[in-house]
Amino acid sequence: ITLGLDLGTSSLKALLVGEDGTPITSVTESLTVERPHFGWSEQNPESWIVACEAALSRLQADYGEALSAVEGIGLSGHMHGATLVGADGSVLRPCILWNDTRSSIEAAALDDDEARRITGNIVFPGFTAPKLDWVRANEPEIFAKIDKVLLPKDYLRLWLTGEAVSEMSDAAGTSWLDTGARDWSDRMLERTHLSRAHMPRLVEGTERSGDLRPELAERFGMKRGVVIAGGAGDNAASACGVGLSEPRTGFLSLGTSGVLFTPSAGYEPAPETAIHTFCHALPGLWHQMGVTLSAAGSIEWLSQILKEKPGDLTGALGETIGEPGRVTFLPYLAGERTPHNNAAIRGVFAGLDAATGREALTQAVLEGVAFSMRDCLEAGAEASRPHQLIAVGAGARSAYWLELMATVLGVEIVLPEAGDFGAALGAARLGACAATGADPKTIMTTPPVAKRFAPREELRQAYEESYRRYRALYPMVSAL
Ligand code: XUL
Repeated sequence: ITLGLDLGTSSLKALLVGEDGTPITSVTESLTVERPHFGWSEQNPESWIVACEAALSRLQADYGEALSAVEGIGLSGHMHGATLVGADGSVLRPCILWNDTRSSIEAAALDDDEARRITGNIVFPGFTAPKLDWVRANEPEIFAKIDKVLLPKDYLRLWLTGEAVSEMSDAAGTSWLDTGARDWSDRMLERTHLSRAHMPRLVEGTERSGDLRPELAERFGMKRGVVIAGGAGDNAASACGVGLSEPRTGFLSLGTSGVLFTPSAGYEPAPETAIHTFCHALPGLWHQMGVTLSAAGSIEWLSQILKEKPGDLTGALGETIGEPGRVTFLPYLAGERTPHNNAAIRGVFAGLDAATGREALTQAVLEGVAFSMRDCLEAGAEASRPHQLIAVGAGARSAYWLELMATVLGVEIVLPEAGDFGAALGAARLGACAATGADPKTIMTTPPVAKRFAPREELRQAYEESYRRYRALYPMVSAL
């Protein structure tokens, strides 16, 4: 039995997976995001530990026998966050998250030919290195106290194992990794006034990173010496969860962020496209992805304002799509990465009418996010386009949204039977690799398909026209 822990932006999920690879049970603990100033997005790292303790306690109470048989744990987490830890292990300030845009000036200053050559990516404001430049400029007393900079799931690992370790897939999102060489870049570290001493040790996602601390094993009724795998950033973890390692396969993730992910044949950076090129969680492999910052996050935002659950909002539209709506929504609630790399842009509703109601707004939000994912598809090379996309993330619960995505992207979308376990299942699978030494290929299988969504051919032209309207709005809004 293995345990997958997925630290998401809006919740932490703990998933127990049986020896045959099928999920046994999962528990979810919600998390909050703090936005104290415009463009800021932070989380208190202690809240991750509290959520993890609560999740483990619930598993112990209801599935104690299964928990006591766990041999391996895998970690997955939201990427890029800067968790600053002092020499005594204390957290120095709230974690600056992946969708925080405060460090856009620092990012632009770091983002030159050298950085793109070493890291294979644009230095986006959401990545970790520019956040550290911001801290150095604005909170120098905190910067001076930094002993280690940890990614969110690696802070959870520090609590679980007592060791500062990261792995390649998440490390590739820091702008400190030589992504082709799968090693820290001394040059990029030096450019942000840091060194290897501030970085955790690196392992591959399938390798052992440490063991569960004995006091935690005792507290939660677990075995001694449970192995904790390197794990992965949430996107590479989702790829493991749905068994993706081959080019021209891919997934569409509708979590707080939206991600279009494809494994690549080798290391094939294309920073000029704003597509991200990161290490896969599997040794010797890389992947590419386009990222939109507010996908299910846009629906959550609308649901908070309209005081209706996201599932009720999308459910009101029915299971199947019709003609596109008249309202256009740009989903740039936290700026945008692919393709615009614009931290300053913000969202828009255009075409509002006196009769526009909540359904029309919901439809516009779902369409706007679909068009933003289409932008990610267009940014990638034609030759590496996936033949089919596997849907993962909470937004994949909406059949309407998946049919809309299939129609706007012109690609078949399949929904796996295992529901929205993606990243947690991938984490558990990486845990199994590290605990048993099994060949990842035998473990990272593609899940059975629950439902297929084909593009609605008769509606494609109408959605093309809407997409064109969506595209035309961006330059106008960015000029405001
Ligand atoms: C990827 C990214 C997001 C986070 C959130 O680059 O920023 O997908 O990993 O989950």
